Amino acid sequence: MQVKNKPVKPKGKLGILTPGMGAVSTTFIAGVEAIRRGKAKPIGSLTQMGTIRLGKRTDKKSPMIKEFIPLAELDDIVFGGWDIFEDSVYAAALNAGVLSRETIEEFRPFLESVKPMKAVFDQRYVKNLSGTWVKKGKNLFDLAGQLMDDMKTFKEKNKCDRLVVVWCASTEIFIKPSRVHQSIEAFEKGLKENDPEIAPSMVYAYAALSLGIPFANGAPNLTVDIPALLELADKNNVPVCGKDFKTGQTLMKTIIAPGLKSRMIGLNGWFSTNILGNRDGEVLDDPDSFKTKEESKLSVLEHILQPKLYPDLYDNFYHKVRINYYPPRGDNKESWDNIDIFGWMGYPMQIKINFLCRDSILAAPVVLDLALFMDLASRIGFKGIQEWLSFYFKSPQHAAGLYPEHDLFIQLMKLKNTLRYIQGEDLITHLGQEYYD
Ligand SMILES: NC(=O)c1ccc[n+]([C@@H]2O[C@H](COP(=O)([O-])OP(=O)(O)OC[C@H]3O[C@@H](n4cnc5c(N)ncnc54)[C@H](O)[C@@H]3O)[C@@H](O)[C@H]2O)c1
Repeated sequence: MQVKNKPVKPKGKLGILTPGMGAVSTTFIAGVEAIRRGKAKPIGSLTQMGTIRLGKRTDKKSPMIKEFIPLAELDDIVFGGWDIFEDSVYAAALNAGVLSRETIEEFRPFLESVKPMKAVFDQRYVKNLSGTWVKKGKNLFDLAGQLMDDMKTFKEKNKCDRLVVVWCASTEIFIKPSRVHQSIEAFEKGLKENDPEIAPSMVYAYAALSLGIPFANGAPNLTVDIPALLELADKNNVPVCGKDFKTGQTLMKTIIAPGLKSRMIGLNGWFSTNILGNRDGEVLDDPDSFKTKEESKLSVLEHILQPKLYPDLYDNFYHKVRINYYPPRGDNKESWDNIDIFGWMGYPMQIKINFLCRDSILAAPVVLDLALFMDLASRIGFKGIQEWLSFYFKSPQHAAGLYPEHDLFIQLMKLKNTLRYIQGEDLITHLGQEYYD
């Protein structure tokens, strides 16, 4: 990937549009506003808190990432989005129950001012939800046109210089790529003929990419992971990335599994179960939506542990993931992992993890970083799949013929080296021989 334009400090406002204004999106918006007002620190955000080492260790040069690479400022962000419920971000945040009422009240006028636009929705894709704030149109092509109008109007009204779209809406049912997804021509024909294989998330992505707006996919849906939309991204020079924000239990998996593998510790089985009671949990209570999530969660260990390369350690390990909808917990998910491992001479051991996590608290900074990095990617002329952003995803999108890189530490190295590459700095290989010459 070539850096076509040298990165310069962006001018003007960046509009971040999220299809879906539920728990993740409202926590993200309220959090950025709290940070802008000096009421919170951007904890969990690499773009805001991370540093990047440049040169040798003896050079002692580790600037903040946001000082090293020109990213949009938080003060220049404007928020918008779509939802199938008419609630403002204030009402939706109260409903999501992630942040305390006290916190939400503190920013009430601001949060009330952010209102969703009418959504493109099809209940076949999210069976457990039905909403009223939904667009009507002649066909999907017409609906895509309406979304494009929304984007243009939002940009104009808010005097934005640039837009980024981050999918924060519910997980759609599991579908496999089919003929209508294979080329932009087939896809556009499908839009006009209301092809049932075109999911609403694809209509949003099509609208964004048609206008040259970067699209990041925070859910495990196929969405931009189809040849037709990748073709469109390539044609219009737009960056895309996905899928499924890496938070919670899977984040822990991608921290622990590379550690076990690096020490050649074997694995017999990994059982993961969760209880959660938010709207996301309700949607995932439908087996078809759960299947999409399950595929995304299951692939992680296989790719990290590489059983084909290490059959004695990882052949046929048993991996199970369960998500149980349990309303009393709301967004405060609890997860349990039982990991059956074995060591020297095959002696078995166990690891138990009980993670009392807050999903949207982990996801909000991911939305921020993705929006800022996708804006950067677009400004410097990166197009198509942004694999260097795998760090943020459970099922990283990757080029055909490659396997995805799931190891969080390799992902971080890749991300930071990409930033060094963009700025023309030496890449860091961690060889370090020069210190001993
Ligand atoms: N919270 C996390 O840590 C996390 C991690 C990975 C992925 N995700 C994914 O992010 C997404 C958002 O999670 P959440 O906890 O905010 O869920 P949520 O249910 O609180 O919010 C999703 C919102 O999307 C809306 N929606 C559904 N279909 C829509 C459509 N077609 N257009 C516009 N709006 C639509 C719903 O009405 C809802 O308000 C989910 O797909 C979830 O699986 C979340």
